[in-house]
Amino acid sequence: CRPLWPLGCTSQCPLTSLASRFSLWSRQLSEFQNRPIHTFQVCHVMEPNQNNWLRSGWIQRQAAQRVYVEMRFTLRDCNSIPWVSGTCKETFNLFYLQTNEPLPAATRFRPSDYSKVDTIAADESFTQTDLGDRVLRLNTEVREVGPVTQNGFYLAFQDVGACIALVSVKVFYKRCPSTLRNLASFPDTVPHMDSSSLVEVRGACVENAEERDTPKLYCGADGDWLVPLGHCICSIGHEEMDASRAASSCNPGFFKAIAGNTKCSKCPLHSSSHDQAGTLCHCDKGFYRALKDPTTMACTRPPSAPRNLVSLINDTALFLRWMPPSDLGGRKDITYNVLCQRCDGSDGDGMTQCEACEPDLRFIPRALGLTGTSVAILDFASHTNYTFHVEAMNGVSGLVLSARLLTNVTVNTQQAGPALVGIINKDWSTQDSIALSWSEMEQPPSEIVEYEVKYYEKLSYSSTRTKSTSVVVTGLRPSTVYVFHVRARTAAGYTAYSSNFEFETAADDPDIADQGQVLVMVTASVGGFSLLVILTLFLLITGSVLTFCLPVPFSGIKTYVDPDTYEDPTQAVEEFAKEIVPSYICIERVIGAGEFGEVCSGYLRIPGRMDISVAIKTLKGGYMDQHRRDFLREASIMGQFNNPNIIRLEGVVTNSRPVMIVVEYMENGALDSFLRTRDGQFTVLQLVGMLRGIAVGMTYLSDMGYVHRDLAARNILVDENLVCKVSDFGMSRVLEDDSEAAYTTTGGKIPIRWTAPEAIAYGKFSSASDIWSYGIVMWEVMSYGERPYWEMSNQDVILSIDEGYRLPAPMGCPVTLHQLMLHCWQKEWSQRPRFNEVLSFLDKLTINPSSLLTLVNDVQSYSHSPEELPDYPLFISIGDWLDSIKMSQYKNNFLAGGYTTLDSISTMSIEDIRRIGVCLIGHQRRIISSIQSLRLQLHHIQQSGFQV
Ligand code: ADE
Repeated sequence: CRPLWPLGCTSQCPLTSLASRFSLWSRQLSEFQNRPIHTFQVCHVMEPNQNNWLRSGWIQRQAAQRVYVEMRFTLRDCNSIPWVSGTCKETFNLFYLQTNEPLPAATRFRPSDYSKVDTIAADESFTQTDLGDRVLRLNTEVREVGPVTQNGFYLAFQDVGACIALVSVKVFYKRCPSTLRNLASFPDTVPHMDSSSLVEVRGACVENAEERDTPKLYCGADGDWLVPLGHCICSIGHEEMDASRAASSCNPGFFKAIAGNTKCSKCPLHSSSHDQAGTLCHCDKGFYRALKDPTTMACTRPPSAPRNLVSLINDTALFLRWMPPSDLGGRKDITYNVLCQRCDGSDGDGMTQCEACEPDLRFIPRALGLTGTSVAILDFASHTNYTFHVEAMNGVSGLVLSARLLTNVTVNTQQAGPALVGIINKDWSTQDSIALSWSEMEQPPSEIVEYEVKYYEKLSYSSTRTKSTSVVVTGLRPSTVYVFHVRARTAAGYTAYSSNFEFETAADDPDIADQGQVLVMVTASVGGFSLLVILTLFLLITGSVLTFCLPVPFSGIKTYVDPDTYEDPTQAVEEFAKEIVPSYICIERVIGAGEFGEVCSGYLRIPGRMDISVAIKTLKGGYMDQHRRDFLREASIMGQFNNPNIIRLEGVVTNSRPVMIVVEYMENGALDSFLRTRDGQFTVLQLVGMLRGIAVGMTYLSDMGYVHRDLAARNILVDENLVCKVSDFGMSRVLEDDSEAAYTTTGGKIPIRWTAPEAIAYGKFSSASDIWSYGIVMWEVMSYGERPYWEMSNQDVILSIDEGYRLPAPMGCPVTLHQLMLHCWQKEWSQRPRFNEVLSFLDKLTINPSSLLTLVNDVQSYSHSPEELPDYPLFISIGDWLDSIKMSQYKNNFLAGGYTTLDSISTMSIEDIRRIGVCLIGHQRRIISSIQSLRLQLHHIQQSGFQV
């Protein structure tokens, strides 16, 4: 709240007493910690026609759209002032005048310029103790002024003959205070003038955060922020802190490489960050990060050299084998390179001459990037010294400039001479064989024993031997290129290989190939079709099986589980209510205010489902755990019910703020206000239809063993089709939320007018006490939202019920329905009907609507047939009345004073009561207040056409 005007009067109180008898007064008051306070007082209760005014200075409107005035005052009860006549008043009036500038000082005060805000009455008043001491009670009343559209305004207080002391006036407006949510800041915001619409406010991301979904908050009329939508996320090098209110930088030793609301991570092994807000940790000396290494991975280094390199040579191949390095450098991506040098003797200086090996030396599988720890080398020259270096590499070896770590081995090959085979020809080929031939050397250096024909396709190679200069190599694959080379074996050993020759086997037979593919397709489609057929049959069969096996409706009824029986009430919420993702909820308007926070309307948009109109109850921020539990209690009760006449719970939001309960939306709102706005517009059958719906819901609840305790038209919601549904379950234990609930002598809070006497007297709540309340709801419905017992005080209602008084039938009410109400209001609870009986009774009435034609007003007109009238006393005698207020001792005083009918006492004043001899002030007050409520009852009864 922002004050627009001072809190309380000081000696410089800026109120001016205008042409009036308001006076500034100061007194020592024990209630105010013995501090003197200054008040404006007026008390001319004995004199008629009082018109005293007090006006404020000009109050600037500032940013306010809706202005509130809080008045603290004391007001003296006229009954406590002896000998005051009808001149004494117990109210004063609040006025205002808006102007764009302060009025000139000389402007004459004209009350007609001012608009009335409200008449202010006291909740408490000066009361008198039995000892006659006066006890000061401070009243606080708040009123909304306006709408104020000009630059400022004056407030004025009019006294018309009350005894008032105005202690303070506070003028303020409400704002949604600047706040930080979801890493976005939202400015101080003034709510809309129209209380039902929300102000949408866009948030700005806090420092070091960046926008993802546009952050938004809605400012409600009461100055509360509702549901945050969208959000910002922490930038790189920053993490969320203080419950999403700020983004703080990562500490040294920590880093965050991607934007988001995750925490900063500790630097991985062999890396560190030295500054705040690190986005990356740098590798320690000697350690590296490969290009593709994630930033979260430890830094690594190149491996050490391979170990135990050995060579092995046979007639055709040379094999190298080694063991992995002892230090892999912290990585798993190790590979090996085999480098070859050919070192032929020594030069003149005695130095060994090495050169790169011949390019056609073949390494199987390859020379570089080996993942295994062996390699085969082919096509080497005989009688040559080869030196092989094997190095181990990993992902970071390329980043290191230092000398490579190699392991060497030198091998000497001994061959029988150069190649003796020149050109190789392909003679013919089939799909799986190739016939080769080559020419024999005319004079080989030594006799050729045989030829070895080597061939390979890609990596694997094979060989075959032949003594002739031709061969048919079989077992090949069609349409494949093979590489062939041939060497001769002489008595001295193998010669070098001939050059490589490439030949291809014959192509596949296309017909066969096609047939194969067709076969596969046919098989697949036949398979697919059969699958389809089988599935269809399966579905048909299971469908019919399902129809046979449909569960028989469950005859037993679930019983209600009290959430208070759970050790941890959140478990009950988890069990009975679905958690809804908050972003699925779209809030549109504020439609009301509950004890815990605003009630909004909107819709629920669950992906893949139709939108549902919903009402959303929110839990205000700053709540305590107990509030949250009480708030969610309603959801864990509602979640157990499933009935067309019970409000349906869609789910809850408990994992984010604000906590919400989402229920189906009821277009026509609460039944009492709905009926008040549609007075006389429904047929009796339509009203009975509404009552029937409520009875269906209540039958369901009572069958489940649930006692509502606060059944009243205000707690019934009406949808667009006039279907009535029972709601408001949270308060079945504590009735804090119901403004009708009053404290009883035993300390419970009970909506007296709707509650059965045994529940008020000794807390005996049951389905039978719910039936009593149902009777009151019937009365509310048939009277289009009239207040039960009108303005009678709660105390008088209790006394009257105890004396047998029952509400008369509302105007136009079928007698059968009033009789049903009276049945619900039987004093003895066991005599009241059950909900299922009420339901079948209403059903019978609906089936036979002629039973609804006789109205109570008609019965009145043939009152000479008393058997048609209800058994309950609608009217009582003076004697009954005095008995009911425990003032029986004055029966004779009333008779002697000529007061014999209720009508005659209804005009009695306090003087009349004193005159007939009631001397005790307490007794005078009891009698006069009972007369006041009787006056109202009699007035209503007369209005409904009854003769008194
Ligand atoms: N007010 C409170 N709950 C409501 C609902 N479900 N539908 C409409 N108005 C409401």
